[in-house]
Amino acid sequence: MDREPNSSFATTDNAGGHEDEFKVTPWEVEGEIDYNRLIEKFGTQSITTEIMEKVKSMTGEIHPMLKLGYFFSHRDFDWILDKQKSGENFYLYTGRGPSGMVHMGHLMPWMFTKYLQDKFNSKLLFQLTDDEKFLYSHDRSRKEIEHYTRENILDIIAVGFNPDKTRIIIDTRHIQHLYPIATEIAKKITFSTAKAVFGFSNSTNIGMIGFPPIQAAPCFLPSIIEGRQVPVLIPAAIDQDPYWRMTRDVADRLGYYKPAQIHSKFLPGLGMLGKMSSSKPETAIFTSDEPETIEKKSLTAFTGGQATISLQKQLGGNPLGCPVFWYLRYFFDTEKQSDERMVLCKSGNLMCGECKGDLAKGAKSFIVEFKKRRQKAENVVEKFMFDAKEM
Ligand code: TYM
Repeated sequence: MDREPNSSFATTDNAGGHEDEFKVTPWEVEGEIDYNRLIEKFGTQSITTEIMEKVKSMTGEIHPMLKLGYFFSHRDFDWILDKQKSGENFYLYTGRGPSGMVHMGHLMPWMFTKYLQDKFNSKLLFQLTDDEKFLYSHDRSRKEIEHYTRENILDIIAVGFNPDKTRIIIDTRHIQHLYPIATEIAKKITFSTAKAVFGFSNSTNIGMIGFPPIQAAPCFLPSIIEGRQVPVLIPAAIDQDPYWRMTRDVADRLGYYKPAQIHSKFLPGLGMLGKMSSSKPETAIFTSDEPETIEKKSLTAFTGGQATISLQKQLGGNPLGCPVFWYLRYFFDTEKQSDERMVLCKSGNLMCGECKGDLAKGAKSFIVEFKKRRQKAENVVEKFMFDAKEM
């Protein structure tokens, strides 16, 4: 996500503001996030062991991102699993705001979405909100947004989604499919609600004020395509939740199922703990980065280690406050390796240099492979484009 400075959407109505020292909105994520507090504030549910067991009984495994608590919160995830069990197959819906190149944080929910698609054989709608990013950005021209839209599509395809079951919607290109539903949604939402949910103010441009129903529209598109109520599950980081709160609020009244969500945490940036962000490129690893750049970013990353090697040996490090640790845990280590790394670090038997080296190695080979798939994606872009007739 690109977060622009001096946002007019900074709000204390969402999580954050005075009482909490963090902020999470679709456009801004700041501070050290207390995810349990977010569950309370956003009114979502935590993922219980029963839910994980249900997933296991249906798919044969629990994905590490679920097991390790990276996906930590949901709305109606259990309901949608029951629907699937009873033969009402769900669609997946996720997206990207193409304001820059894609970094590894963005890939996390998409990789999880691919896992869900593979396991449940689901159809997937993938929205690119080029309109949102143009309207929100202070300095991106339409041309730049078009450029990032094309680049981001290659990343999306490179994740490995099923080409027969995945369709990409670009808002400005496919608006005719979204607009009729968006107007139905928009008509049910007052400005006062939009202000409370999104923190809009008098200085917000009116394009942004009118935008949310466009991101809500793909929640109902499957029902329109299939001509019956279709359950939809949205995997995304929790920053997108305000959109879904608004959408769920109008779903019943429009005769659709409420969309279900499964929310992830954020992959931290490699600076001080905080969300990885494209607006601080030195702290994010992009899918377009060269190996030398990845090496440099990894080796200069902030860690939870002590100031000197002898202090580290004496006192041990703080893996839970270390972005390198989390990066390795979520992306490259197995659970066992990660648990061992934690013990070694805490006891002063592991130096930061080693972890940073492991990150450099893992991230370089991951991105090299990813780039190959990205290049191949060039040939199949049109196949992935949305066409209502063939979903
Ligand atoms: P965008 O482009 O900000 O983010 C794309 C997806 O990546 C997630 N994300 C992250 N996940 C983990 N760690 C991070 N550091 C990180 N940064 C971003 C976001 O939650 C999102 O899932 N308005 C949306 C585009 C959109 C969308 C959707 C997203 C349209 N329809 C449906 C999710 C689901 C946006 O700008 O996402």
